[in-house]
Amino acid sequence: MSFQLVLFGGTGDLAWRKILPALFQAYRHQTLPKDGRIIGVARDKMSDADFRSLIGERLQNVEGEKRPQSAEFAEFAKQLFYQHCDLNESSDYEALRLKLSEHPAQLCVMYLATAPHLFTTICEHLAASGLNTESTRIVLEKPLGQNLKSNREINATVRNFFSERQIFRIDHYLGKPSVQNLFALRFGNSLFEPLWRRDTISSIQITLSEQIGIGTRGPFYEQTGALRDMIQNHALQLLCAIAMEPPINAHADAIRDEKLKVLRSLKPWTPQSLRADIVRGQYSAGLVAGAPVKAYSEEAGVAPNSKTETFVALKTEVNNWRWAGVPFYLRTGKRMAEQDARIVINFRPTPHPIFQTPTGSANQLVIHLQPKDGMALHLFAQGQAVTSFTTAPSSTNKTGPGPIGPLLSPVQLDLDFDKRFGTDRVGAYERLLLDAIGGRLNLFVRSDEQEAAWSWVEPILQDWENEDSPLYAYPSGTWGPSQSKVMIANSGHHWDED
Ligand code: BG6
Repeated sequence: MSFQLVLFGGTGDLAWRKILPALFQAYRHQTLPKDGRIIGVARDKMSDADFRSLIGERLQNVEGEKRPQSAEFAEFAKQLFYQHCDLNESSDYEALRLKLSEHPAQLCVMYLATAPHLFTTICEHLAASGLNTESTRIVLEKPLGQNLKSNREINATVRNFFSERQIFRIDHYLGKPSVQNLFALRFGNSLFEPLWRRDTISSIQITLSEQIGIGTRGPFYEQTGALRDMIQNHALQLLCAIAMEPPINAHADAIRDEKLKVLRSLKPWTPQSLRADIVRGQYSAGLVAGAPVKAYSEEAGVAPNSKTETFVALKTEVNNWRWAGVPFYLRTGKRMAEQDARIVINFRPTPHPIFQTPTGSANQLVIHLQPKDGMALHLFAQGQAVTSFTTAPSSTNKTGPGPIGPLLSPVQLDLDFDKRFGTDRVGAYERLLLDAIGGRLNLFVRSDEQEAAWSWVEPILQDWENEDSPLYAYPSGTWGPSQSKVMIANSGHHWDED
């Protein structure tokens, strides 16, 4: 299949950190159609050759085995081209059109890896230059807007020129093998489905913690914060994967319909719950993995009195028959104690305990998303042979003292998907780029899903505009402000690492 992939923001961070390395991996895995051209578009003036050597240099920063050897990069680079474009300049789009027409292809993917405020401008210009043909697909990077209003505006503009089946909204978490495995776990096995409900599950936790700070992204992060950056998209998509009903088939809309229902069932915020069930924090100086790091307010591009959050913990519920009353705890933060993305499903204790079990524990299914990709099922077993129950009450004494059987030990069934399937599986961006080229929408977010997610975070954003809305400092290298522990303890639970 012949294609042209036009990468707006072609020299930017995202392009050389994620998109071009992923395209290179696809090339290496021989899944990138050979008859394809990748055209970087940016404001700088440079030739195709300059672009190739710039990308060649940048790809030398890629981790270990993914770094290209010079001979293979030289081959891959034959598919790279460059087009200068001032995004506000109509004549530059005309030049782009001419460049594309030099090698007509079956389809054209326009990847907008620019700041989101440029999306509407780019779409309008593409349409004005006749570049929104039936065979065009458009890929939009997150965050799509700053709030519900701007998200709707962007979606409305894009839809003026492209139909929904042409629009690929990225949430790269959906491309991760570990996240796809979540769908496999739930809908490829019959084992868990009967247990997957309020009768058996007492609470669910989703943690996305990072050790990294904001790096060189200060100005972007100041406008964004953890709620928009991680909760509105990645964490809510994971929540959907856990809470959704089984879709009727594996087609994009069947899956997206079910995710949408979950988003629409999220418990609405009240003035009380906005304060009691949400904790926002900002990292102060501290030690991460033994090394001193500075406070968020001292990072480049950040206002010294910034109120931008780098941590959010919250409690919500999914108001439907399956989940009513089951708390879902979501937590994300930068400069945390560990890099860890995991989902913890806590099961209820046995309804009538006859054994003693270690205090506080019950069965758990822990889904490790990264850095480890795997799953652990925590159970109880009897480690030592016991011939009889300790102080045997009369077998007819049903109302006697609590559990008096032997003390059980925690054991776990541990699945390591990296070991089983190898660590060289198709990465998130590689998978999503190939899907965009292949026209598969399953792992992309539909506009109504996105709007529902924005509608739910909107009251939080509004509440945080109030002067009296608290923002707690937490030392870098910890699990966030202590208020996050208090918030969860108020509902009788605790974070998994406590
Ligand atoms: C991005 C956020 O969407 O996801 C970043 O903008 C964050 O702030 C990143 O670091 C996390 O992605 P991953 O794949 O490293 O977990």
